[in-house]
Amino acid sequence: MDIEKLKAAAKGVAKNSYSPYSKFTVAAAFYNQQGEMFTGVNVENVSYGLTICAERNAICASVTQGSTSIHTLVIYTPTQTPTPPCGACRQFISEFSKDARIISICDSEQMTDTTIDKLLPSSFSDF
Ligand code: THU
Repeated sequence: MDIEKLKAAAKGVAKNSYSPYSKFTVAAAFYNQQGEMFTGVNVENVSYGLTICAERNAICASVTQGSTSIHTLVIYTPTQTPTPPCGACRQFISEFSKDARIISICDSEQMTDTTIDKLLPSSFSDF
């Protein structure tokens, strides 16, 4: 799987971020286990609380297409420091992968490269 293509895809959809309230653009792109790519951007709402993060929009797009796995996910923000996934998105990612690689990139050389199990240890997974 080509990580550079994933980074380019996240940067490519970032312009579609609907974030008039926070003005904080987030874009996500990931490969599933089969190497298929999905993308998403954050979509905000005037009621604020209805905002949906880029990661969750990408995952929902994949489920809609019949995919329920995550291999490697890239988060891009046009900032000087990388942005990690929020707590809700960590839980959402862990639904579909216990060991997904999570890469955060930005407009500087800084980046993070980790896994969902490191970002969400002791996750709630069953009941
Ligand atoms: N946001 C994401 O899209 N993903 C995250 O993991 C963190 C936050 C969005 C939500 C909101 O539109 C903006 O960033 C500011 O919180």
